[in-house]
Amino acid sequence: MTGLAGRIWRSLVRRPLVPRNDRERKWVVIHNFILHFRPVRLPAKTVEYTHTWGLGGMSLVLFLVLATTGILMMFAYEPSTQGAYDSIRTMQDEVLFGRLVRNIHHWSANFLIVVVFLHLLRVFFTGGYRGTRQFNWIIGLALLLCVLISNFTGYLLPWDQLSYWAITISTGMISYIPLAGEWLQNVVRDGAEIGQATLINFYTFHTTVVPVLLILLMGWHFWRVRKARGVVMPRAVDEQRDNQTESDVDYVLTVPSLLFREFVVALCLVAFVMVVSLFFNAPLGEAANPGMSPNPAKAPWYFVGIQELLLHFHPLFAVVLIPLTAALALLLIPYFKYHDDTEGIWFQSVNGRRTAIVAVVTALIVTPIWIAVDEFGVGPTALLPSIAPIIGNGIVPVLLACLVLFVFYRAIRRAYSATKDEAIQASFVLLTAVFLIFTATGVWFRGAGMALVWPW
Ligand code: HEM
Repeated sequence: MTGLAGRIWRSLVRRPLVPRNDRERKWVVIHNFILHFRPVRLPAKTVEYTHTWGLGGMSLVLFLVLATTGILMMFAYEPSTQGAYDSIRTMQDEVLFGRLVRNIHHWSANFLIVVVFLHLLRVFFTGGYRGTRQFNWIIGLALLLCVLISNFTGYLLPWDQLSYWAITISTGMISYIPLAGEWLQNVVRDGAEIGQATLINFYTFHTTVVPVLLILLMGWHFWRVRKARGVVMPRAVDEQRDNQTESDVDYVLTVPSLLFREFVVALCLVAFVMVVSLFFNAPLGEAANPGMSPNPAKAPWYFVGIQELLLHFHPLFAVVLIPLTAALALLLIPYFKYHDDTEGIWFQSVNGRRTAIVAVVTALIVTPIWIAVDEFGVGPTALLPSIAPIIGNGIVPVLLACLVLFVFYRAIRRAYSATKDEAIQASFVLLTAVFLIFTATGVWFRGAGMALVWPW
């Protein structure tokens, strides 16, 4: 390596670099600043695009775009039920680039949920949550929660029919929580109905509380990646870690190797968001009318999966027990006992990949059948109308779902000779795919009265 990069490299492995002129001094300062939260050098394999797909970095970029456009919009937005809707209209129609800034904010917020979710899947499927990275998974989940809260609180701000009723539906689901439901719903709405108090609370959470939490959590998250000496080391299937010595691993400098790649990913992402924002406007319906509910009234798309669950399960299960079990399972993922050392191997093994595909195909077959059976009145409640809803619509279908999962797990173990770890991974894929199909059904295939419709 020659030139300044070569001198920096040599200074890191041998002796400190003494800058020879102002230009070099500037570079050394920038370099040292970047290395506050980065290791100096990284295994070459970890900076390949196809290892992390840059998804964590993309999340950060989207957050920065959101913060910038959000601050710009705060100059025009009025957080009052009287003025919010008009201020958005004025911003779009009369403020220079106002519509574009709003579009960028809207699309970045939606992409952020997708990107963070994909990042979670990447970490899961490369086993990046084990050993020293266990707790970073938990911080990641806190980040995911903040991203969802941020999107949810922002959803209400335009104060149009779409936002008003989506938040009414979502906060209405809280009331199904036994004993504390009504109270909790009142806390979230800051009153019995959604009104000025709700709007100002959502605005404060959206513009202050959640962004501050996100910044703190992201700092912690990156610091833990740094402490774990970068991301998990990618391995080919069956590549043994024990055979590798430190000298077998090729290293590259964080600056420029990683920085350059991050820069390329960030530029492409921003260009993509710009193009989408130029061609597709953020939705804005009629001004909110609390007296007239649209039909269908749907929750924001990322909560529509739970709304869809409500159509198939008793509210106690749909809103409380199933989401809580899912959240607990996600929290425990890093702390389960794993039998094989597959850290860094995509999908654990060739068989892991195969069984994951089988899980997706199973979800694609079973879920639509389940939805159709319920829709056309041949579900447990319809067949046993005299029994209590908590049994017919709750315990019976949940036990049935557990049975399907158990049969799937056993079938994967036997038919594909899957290890326990592979079978657990396949079960995770099955449940995730079912939830995604529920979400897609709620978003695209539900019409008036939440009946099934064909969207095209
Ligand atoms: C705003 C949200 C998030 C941001 C900005 C973020 C950012 C990052 C970045 C930049 C990395 C380094 C590697 C990469 O780019 O993939 C990383 C790694 C990691 N993230 Fe996140 N992340 C977020 C959410 C999450 C979530 C939801 C989870 C999982 C529940 C998670 C768990 C992890 C773990 C365990 C690592 C270390 C993985 C490894 O070593 O391979 N993160 N994150």
